[in-house]
Amino acid sequence: MRRKTGATLVLLHRATRITVHTKPCVGILVTLLTFVFCSFLFGHLPILWRMLRKREFMHDLFLQWAEKYGPIVRLNAFHRVSVMILSPEGVKEFLMSPQYPKDRLVYGRIFNLFGERFLGNGLVTVCNHEHWHKQRKIMDPAFSRTYLIGLMETFNEKAEDLMEKLEEKADGKKEFSMLRMMNRVTMDIIAKVAFGLELNALSDDQTPFPHAVTLVLEGMTKTRIPLFQYMPGKQKLVKEVKESLKLLRRVGKECIDRRREAIQNGKEATLDILTQILKGDALEETRDDENILDNFITFFVAGHETTANQLSFTVMALAQHPEILKRLQAEVDDVLGAKRDIGYEDLGKLAYLSQVLKESLRLYPPVPGTVRWMEKEHVINGIRIPANTTLVFSTYIMGRMERYFKDPLTFNPDRFSRDAPKPYYCYFPFSLGPRSCIGQVFAQMEAKVVMAKLLQRFEFQLVPGQSFKLLEAGTFRPLDGVMCKLKPRSPARGCQA
Ligand code: HEM
Ligand SMILES: *[C@@H]1O[C@H](CO)[C@@H](O)[C@H](O)[C@H]1NC(C)=O
Repeated sequence: MRRKTGATLVLLHRATRITVHTKPCVGILVTLLTFVFCSFLFGHLPILWRMLRKREFMHDLFLQWAEKYGPIVRLNAFHRVSVMILSPEGVKEFLMSPQYPKDRLVYGRIFNLFGERFLGNGLVTVCNHEHWHKQRKIMDPAFSRTYLIGLMETFNEKAEDLMEKLEEKADGKKEFSMLRMMNRVTMDIIAKVAFGLELNALSDDQTPFPHAVTLVLEGMTKTRIPLFQYMPGKQKLVKEVKESLKLLRRVGKECIDRRREAIQNGKEATLDILTQILKGDALEETRDDENILDNFITFFVAGHETTANQLSFTVMALAQHPEILKRLQAEVDDVLGAKRDIGYEDLGKLAYLSQVLKESLRLYPPVPGTVRWMEKEHVINGIRIPANTTLVFSTYIMGRMERYFKDPLTFNPDRFSRDAPKPYYCYFPFSLGPRSCIGQVFAQMEAKVVMAKLLQRFEFQLVPGQSFKLLEAGTFRPLDGVMCKLKPRSPARGCQA
């Protein structure tokens, strides 16, 4: 402790030099599971409005500042100071330790949306360490290896449903959004394996759920605009967002009641996410149905949107890199051949596919980072950070910094080959430490099954004229939805010119 204080004094001078007051406007970059909020500094609104209007991606501006002033960048937002920590030392120190809770102000902002309860005290948003720890311990068994292996059947079945849908489109001419299709398959999967619900979002165009989730995420993005819910002209959206939240919570309630009844009638409950959520509640002294619904929505939203974005970004990157695609198809042919049922042991053999998925998360992380609250003064990289500061971490920015990744904007899965050095606290698409993603392995198994089948069956092409930009809308997703054309792969695999 004493050494640290000493360092503070010695380095104060350096700190004042290095900690830059970034002059051009600043948002607090605030990130939630999937959710990024920027509170805008009023004084700098013109620049931000211009960026928003042009749909420019604000995080690239932050990236420029990071390259110029980093790795510690101070942001001024209203009267609060936030500090972006973009050094491996800082990431390790603050994310690996349970000492630094999530920032209440930031995560509290999505407790409700426009007055309607949203993520509440669910597993992503809960900031109190004890309350979080209790919930997490209860949820862990639903993500154990043995349990996840049991999900392979559903991953295969739902991915097959997607392949059937894609076959209908695979005439080499029809244009469709890959993002939309991926969203539907991942939604069907999470509904089934987490809650035992057959949503059939893939085949049912009338189902209200995909639209409801889109609206909720849009609402999340809009809440960062001060007084948005009182603006004339926005009333329709606000109303729709609230109705979507009510719909999701109502479905959650029905689902929970049905399950409770089944348990009471002595039916053996499957060890799925819902069972774990209910077990957690049973251990509480007072029953908290609202907290159960918080977790229903948390898992419903967090458990599919991110994976869908990862999958569609990956299709986008592959379609831009024919050599990588070819090598990947060769691996899939080699491991799977014409096999339909992908087994757990096959996943380990799809090594290059793992690399491709990791590289996709480096350049296109669906969740850009996380936010912590630091109550005591701290020195990191020789820079003194005052007490009571919001700390912002971004895998999007670090993943694109020259000093951590050579030629950072090039999509190169070999960065993640077996013998390449592992990235050292500069790559964390699932966050790190105690608050890291509980669904990481789940998501990557699911992503591999879907991608492997897609690669096995189809050739894809991007519709020309699309930007490869990112859109910040709750999560980071491909702005143009990855419009594709598909053709069945010719049976003479590997022999194409
Ligand atoms: C590619 C897919 C995914 C990505 C990139 C991703 C990313 C993340 C990140 C970055 C966090 C930390 C959020 C924060 O600090 O605010 C997180 C937390 C979380 N994720 Fe994921 N996630 C993915 C898939 C999933 C899936 C499939 C599930 C559930 C089945 C899930 C459930 C959760 C939960 C419950 C948390 C909170 C964990 C805790 O604080 O204990 N995620 N995820
Ligand atoms: C930080 O905030 C806490 C709680 O609001 C307060 O008690 C403490 O004095 C603050 N620390 C400093 C150095 O301002």
